[in-house]
Amino acid sequence: MIISGTLMLPGSPSTVRLAPGWIATDHDHIAQVHESESRTTDIDLGGDDCLIFPGFIDTHLHLPQFDSIGQDNLPLLQWLDEIIFPAESRWENPDYARSMTQRVAHQLLSHGTTSIAAYATVHAHSAQITLDLLADLGFAGCVGHVLMDRNAPDFLLKPATQLIDEAAAAKPKGRLTPAITPRFAISCTPDLLEGAGQLASKFPWPIQTHLAETVPECLLIAELFNNTPYTQVYDQFNLLTEKTILAHGIWLDQNDHALIKSRNAIIAHCPTANEFLRAGTMNRADTLVSGVKLSLGSDVAGGPDRSMVRVARAMIDAAKAVNTQTPPSAAQCFWQITQSNADILNLPTTGTIKAGNFADLLVIKPDIPWQDSPNPLSTLLYAWDDRWLKATIIQGQLRYQAE
Ligand code: GUN
Ligand code: FE
Repeated sequence: MIISGTLMLPGSPSTVRLAPGWIATDHDHIAQVHESESRTTDIDLGGDDCLIFPGFIDTHLHLPQFDSIGQDNLPLLQWLDEIIFPAESRWENPDYARSMTQRVAHQLLSHGTTSIAAYATVHAHSAQITLDLLADLGFAGCVGHVLMDRNAPDFLLKPATQLIDEAAAAKPKGRLTPAITPRFAISCTPDLLEGAGQLASKFPWPIQTHLAETVPECLLIAELFNNTPYTQVYDQFNLLTEKTILAHGIWLDQNDHALIKSRNAIIAHCPTANEFLRAGTMNRADTLVSGVKLSLGSDVAGGPDRSMVRVARAMIDAAKAVNTQTPPSAAQCFWQITQSNADILNLPTTGTIKAGNFADLLVIKPDIPWQDSPNPLSTLLYAWDDRWLKATIIQGQLRYQAE
């Protein structure tokens, strides 16, 4: 396949740049990248007025929550009880999980997301169905069967031993692996956290959980774990590792940052969710200065935005809200949701347009004269319209095309 247009290419460290050119794909991968003129003859997709981006990568989202977007004005723990847990209970039915996954996959594709670090539910069978279905569509990353054995309605709780056995039986498929997913320490007994830590030493899969999203959550953790600092709770159970994705990480001090850095774990910054649930505003600059690796996630449905471009824009808004340091540039934002998120999820074969990578590509046709802008990437970020996305290709296969 020949795809032509203005390409989003790796820039100087931590940025992307735009340059005219064209790409030749061969089966599932990018065979050639030509940076010169965009090509006008014999092209299959794109054109002079199109941009070609790498697929976007979302490092924190909840697949069963896509129908729960926008249920507003509840604090986190109440929102979980009243909105989220009832929604997740529907995944007890594998047929429901399958059909919802199909709908969610279409939404991911039509918003340009091609790689994910996702949560399913406590239902192991449904989690595997979801992983298999998304793997068949070519998505890369991980899907986790959620571990929870306390502080949720009975219909979502299972004994720790059962959950650990089920999690150990999960199977990778295609470019997706399972993920060890203790929801957060509030919904896991020490036995379950211990079992999750043991699983993590046996399997190469990512670990995902939530950390310090809201103050009431942190207070409850202190009560449940005898005042052990929240970050140390995970560390005690060997859950802080270089493959650990800690969602939110707002209410942390220097000791927490130092511990997270020493274990090389990742914080998934979720600015749209932090705002929607009024969890707080993460200080991104401080977190980065402490040396902690940061990724970016939509956290649907905590975050109401399915578009990683809007999540990236919210990262700028959050940075402006907390301090006077220079907020990330548009070039850094686009780098974050492509190459950087890929690096952090340890997905070296996606996130950049380069020969040898999987052909995970977006064809975008803006309806504004972005070429005339003094800063085209900033114009594109702020004027972004999902209707501009004309095609999403994963592994060289056209998986979404706008009508
Ligand atoms: N903490 C524990 N579970 C969740 C969840 O599903 N969403 C968010 N935003 N925070 C959580
Ligand atoms: Fe979350």
